[in-house]
Formats: sequence, C-alpha cells, structure tokens
Amino acid sequence: MTPPPVAPENVKRWERPPDRVPAFVEHWGRGPFVATAVLLTALAAGAAAWSPPLAPLLALPAAFWVMGLGDMAQKRQTILRNFPVLGRLRSFAESIRPELRQYFVESDHEENPFSREQRSLVYQRSKDVLDTLPFGTRLNVYQTGYEWLNHSLEPTHPGPETARVLVGAERCKQPYSASIFNISAMSYGSLSKAAVRALNKGAKLGGFFHNTGEGGLSPYHLEHGGDIVWQVGTGYFSARGPDGRFSPERFAENAAQPAVRMIEVKLSQGAKPAHGGILPAGKVTEEVARIRGVPMGKDVLSPPAHTAFSGPRGLLEFVARLRELSGGKPVGFKLCMGNPVEFMGIVKAMLETGLLPDYIAIDGGEGGTGAAPLEFSNSVGAPLVEGLRLAHNTLVGAALRDRVVLLSAGRITSGFDLMHHLAIGADACNSARGMMFALGCIQALKCNSNKCPVGVATQDERLVAGLDVDDKAVRVANFHRRTVTSLLELVGAAGLASPAELHPELLIRRISQTEVKPVSEIYPTVEWGCLAAGEPPPRYARWWAMASADHFKPAPVEALLAKTHLALGNARMAEVLAAELKRLSGCAPTR
Ligand SMILES: Cc1cc2nc3c(=O)[nH]c(=O)nc-3n(C[C@H](O)[C@H](O)[C@H](O)COP(=O)(O)O)c2cc1C
Ligand code: SF4
Repeated sequence: MTPPPVAPENVKRWERPPDRVPAFVEHWGRGPFVATAVLLTALAAGAAAWSPPLAPLLALPAAFWVMGLGDMAQKRQTILRNFPVLGRLRSFAESIRPELRQYFVESDHEENPFSREQRSLVYQRSKDVLDTLPFGTRLNVYQTGYEWLNHSLEPTHPGPETARVLVGAERCKQPYSASIFNISAMSYGSLSKAAVRALNKGAKLGGFFHNTGEGGLSPYHLEHGGDIVWQVGTGYFSARGPDGRFSPERFAENAAQPAVRMIEVKLSQGAKPAHGGILPAGKVTEEVARIRGVPMGKDVLSPPAHTAFSGPRGLLEFVARLRELSGGKPVGFKLCMGNPVEFMGIVKAMLETGLLPDYIAIDGGEGGTGAAPLEFSNSVGAPLVEGLRLAHNTLVGAALRDRVVLLSAGRITSGFDLMHHLAIGADACNSARGMMFALGCIQALKCNSNKCPVGVATQDERLVAGLDVDDKAVRVANFHRRTVTSLLELVGAAGLASPAELHPELLIRRISQTEVKPVSEIYPTVEWGCLAAGEPPPRYARWWAMASADHFKPAPVEALLAKTHLALGNARMAEVLAAELKRLSGCAPTR
C-alpha cells in the first residue's frame, strides 16, 4: 500500500530553523577585527586612564593588533587573511584533534591505528598490573570478521622453553636461539636515544632480540648488551664506505660485535615499500653522521633499491657473503610482499643455487614507520596475512619451509595476535608499535614532527629527558613476558604441546551473520613440494611460471610455457598453465 503523502507542516519540522544567534564566525572578517581591536584599545585605555595600575591591560589590545595585522599581511594562509586572529583557533583545534578524538570521541575498539583496548592492554602488562576483563567480552561475536580459537577439552601447559626458535642451525657457526616475540626494526634517529637504550635494556632483561632498524648500529644499541639484530638497508649505514656503497670491511668490523646475534637485509617495509628515505641535513648531527658513516651537514638518502646486489640470485649470494663476513651469524631478509612473482623468483633461486637465508621477515602493508607518504602507507604492499600466507605457501611448495625460519610483524599487542601470526605461518614474531606503547607512547601521532610528547620518537633533548630508561626497560620486559605467557596459555587451551604446533585449522572466522569458516579454508594451502616438482596449484601456476631466479622482472608467460614444456617435458604443468592463461585471457602479458 502506498503511504499517504507527508503533510507540509510535518516536513517543516525537520527544516533547519533560522539562526536565532548570528553565525558569529561567518560574520567575522577584517572589518569586525579592526572594530573589535579599536573597541578593546578604547576599553583598555579608558581603564588605564581611570586607574593607572590597570595600564598593563593595554598589552591585550596590543597583542590583538599585532596578531591580526600579521595574519592579514601574510599570504600563505587564506583563512587567516580572511579571519584574522579567529582563524588561529582552527589551527589550534587541528593540533589537538588526535588527543580530543582519543580521549572523548573514539570507542574502545576503534582502531586508529590501535584501539583504546589494545593500548590499555599493553600499558597494563608493561606496568605489570591487573589485565583481566570483568563482565565478559565487549566484542560483537556475531560481527563479520570476528575470530576465535577452537579450544580443547584436554588443555596442556607448554613451558617457556617452547617459546624459543633456533635460527641458522643448519648453516651457521653461530646459530641463535630467538624468543618467539621480539622488538621489530626501528632506527636510532627515528627513535630517541633514550627509547633505543630502554628497548635494548628491556631486551636484555627479558632475553629477546632488538632489531636496530636501517639507521645503523649506534652505541645506544650496545650499551646494555641486549641481543641485537643488525638491519642493513639500502643506505648501508654503519657498513658503508666513503662512496656510500657497501663496505665489506666496515660490515665485518661491526658484525663482529658480540651483541650482534643476527643480520637482516632490509628489502622493504610495509609502511613504505619500494620507497627510499631521507634524513635532512639539519638532523645530521655529528653523532648521527658518525654512527651512520656519512658526511655531516648533507642530506642522507636511503635509496629505494640496493646497490650491493641485483636480482634474486644476487640477493642470496649477498646473504651468503654477509654470513661469511659476520663469522657465521644467521642472516635473513625483510620484506613486505609486493608482486608474488618476485618472491617466487627468490624461492626459485633458492632451489637453483641451494643458497638459503636463515630467516625471512614478513611485514604487513599495515606496518608502522616514523614517516611515510600517505599513498604508500595506505595503498602499497600486501597486508600481513596475505603476505605471510604467500611466503609460507611458496616455501612449503618448494619443500624449503623446514629450512627457513619465518618471522612476521604486524599490529601485535596481545597473546591472541601473536598466536594468530604463528597459526597462519610465522615461527616467531616482532612488534614495533606494541613496544613503543610499552615505552609510554600515547599514540599522539606526531612521530614525523620531532614533537613526540613522551620522548620516544623525537631528537628534542627537552622531550627525550622525560623518558626514564630504567623504568621503561622494565616495562618493555614486562610486556614481552606477559604477552608470551598469554600466548602459552592460549596454546595450552588449544591442547597443544608448543606454539610450533599451531595451525590455521584452529582459528575460526565469522564470514557472515550466519556462516563461519576455519581460517585454513579461507586462505589457500599448497601440497608439500608441489612447486619444486613443477606441479603448482592453479592459483600459483602463472606466478610460478613467470618467476625467474635471475631477475625480479616477471618473465613472459607464453615463452615460459613453451620452455617448461620443452625443457622439462612437464606436460601437466603446461596444461595447468594453459588453462590458467585461458581463464585469464586478456590479462596475461605477451612480452
Ligand atoms: C617508528 C618506526 C620506525 C621504523 N623503522 C623501521 C626501519 O628502520 N626498518 C624497518 O624494516 N622497519 C621499520 N619500521 C617497521 C617496523 O619494524 C614493523 O615492521 C612495522 O611497524 C609492523 O610492526 P608493528 O605493527 O608492530 O608496528 C618502523 C616502524 C616504526 C613504528
Ligand atoms: S606518542 Fe610519540 S611515538 Fe607515540 S605516536 Fe605520538 S609521537 Fe609517535
């Protein structure tokens, strides 16, 4: 039945009533400013004439005049030219927007990028105070995306010794027993020296590793003797010669430090994959120049790509060279997954050369950074789950998964987050921003402005002075210990003997109001050794065919199709590829 038409008097009720109070801001401008300034001056002058001790009041109109005339004279901000003095309120409101949102607007579960609940958990665990939840979950368990762990009726009690992972056992003279949870890469420069010292001391107290980030090895990383993973990025800081290129001598010298337990070649990070970095000349203090091995007073560039090697084979040869130069310490590389063909090229190179990294660290596109272009942070690079799953599956398909350790980082703040990463493919994990919260980060989101209010991500000595290294080191160690304890409780609840037994079947996700699925059915799995045997599943066939051990650039599919068929005589793979090409007709590159 058609509803009756709405009576006009009812419609009117919803129209905006005429403004009873004049829109003050809209009527403000140069004229009202001058009128107000004249009025204020007259009032202050009158007050001063009436009672001379009130003469200082004249300072108020004077300041008002100076601000307003300055606003009208400047040419950079139209809003200030048009709304002198008043326009400044906008800048002020903008500047405190994150804090206002955080304290008054945001809900407990709104991620921005970390929710109030996630941050509170880290604060509570790092302070070693009560972290239990009263009255049941506040999550909507019927919301799409909700995930849970299938527990067992026979819970177990895995010991802390199960929360360690041996890296480099097969190839290294100095293999390393890593904690299952560690500090992800963050450079001195991006972080303050107090933050770096507190992280390292925390790592020492808790027996886990601290990744230096690409900014090089500083004395602050070595002061407390916590285990170090030295990250070597495209700038080769602390390992570069005067020409800015990789220096084997400098690398060997620094890699020999006993605290350096592993080396990491940085290929990319999730927040800005394939984007270089720049440290402006103004920030290149004498100390930073010395640590990074760069001249003082010049911009320091981290180019997007490495100059010490090229292509998958070159990468693996470089990894092997670093292992040798470091005296047999484990060497891995870190990347955020981009084109799957390139990663498969690396795995093909592993198969062809027999050169394997000791570990691969996968970062998600949702990863953090000190500063990055918005487009890169928001829209470049695979999210952690997809990236990690692809890395895991490719290594399984190449029958290499048991010979390479997989690390991952991406928004880990709880035992469940850690368990989730391990269940979908990681052997051990890292946290950057979780550790920053343990240091006292309040998510003020000013890391790129040198104005971090809690002295974590700034070089401003005045702000850095507020961060107490000893206190925060204990917090970092507490956060680590209690997160690992929570992980082991979850592993026990699932009836497993150790975190190594976690698998995606245990995780269930709600995919609609009425349907749920094990995560293992949502993300693809592959048969052990299928890629190495030349029998890739259809989903991976095209990528695997296009991958080359010699260069990252994908090879033309049709040429490879013929080559595979002729060279390997592998008719089955050729068939699979042909079917895949047909399915993708129009999408497959021809040259
Ligand atoms: C302040 C800051 C600096 C970072 N610097 C580096 C770096 O130098 N090298 C790197 O590989 N990743 C760097 N990252 C990325 C982290 O190591 C990590 O991979 C990413 O933030 C995901 O972990 P999270 O979600 O626990 O923060 C940085 C992250 C932050 C927040
Ligand atoms: S508190 Fe400091 S480290 Fe944390 S988000 Fe803000 S500026 Fe960055």
